[in-house]
Amino acid sequence: MSWFSALHKTTGLPVGLYKKMDRETKNHRTTRSFISSSPGETIDMGERVARGLEQGDFIALEGALGAGKTVFVKGVAKGLGIADHLYVNSPSFVIVKEYPGRLDLYHFDVFRLDQEGFTDTLDYRRYFYGSGVTVVEWADKIKDEVPDEYLEIRITHVSPMKRRFDLRGHGKRYSRIVDRL
Ligand SMILES: Nc1ncnc2c1ncn2[C@@H]1O[C@H](COP(=O)(O)OP(=O)(O)OP(=O)(O)O)[C@@H](O)[C@H]1O
Ligand SMILES: [Mg+2]
Repeated sequence: MSWFSALHKTTGLPVGLYKKMDRETKNHRTTRSFISSSPGETIDMGERVARGLEQGDFIALEGALGAGKTVFVKGVAKGLGIADHLYVNSPSFVIVKEYPGRLDLYHFDVFRLDQEGFTDTLDYRRYFYGSGVTVVEWADKIKDEVPDEYLEIRITHVSPMKRRFDLRGHGKRYSRIVDRL
């Protein structure tokens, strides 16, 4: 069962699609929520999101310890054609790991850093505005460095195996990606 069909089988949880114009920025925003019932479904979701990605794209992941951020990145890696996607693990101690694929993946985990530590530690712009796809775990810690347009994904625990994913596309292109899921 795919994560998408599984989603429709879940009960009682808000799932939906809405679009709105952000009056302040005039940017389109689309938000959708999904439920994943297993790590496999989360990988499927990551893979599906990756299909819509292009050079220079940016995904900001938010969610508590063990929410499933890294599992989701494994799926993105799979979707980007990265051969050893199952070996993707938290780059906590190196800040960023690069994986070559159809598009290269730059996987950040900034849990142990604050905004200042991050900007002092590495030339992150080389990645954020580079030719691959950037995915950042704990992106809320470096809010000021997140590009204006990006895909925001918030993951919350529902139960031991269930996770709620709230995806929000900031800007037209990312809204389209969310729309097409
Ligand atoms: N539906 C699900 N989706 C994703 N992971 C799940 C799910 N159900 C259970 N899990 C388990 O939750 C854990 C998620 O771990 P993961 O390393 O992805 O979290 P994380 O958000 O990256 O945490 P950290 O902030 O420590 O890096 C794994 O052990 C995984 O097997
Ligand atoms: Mg992680």
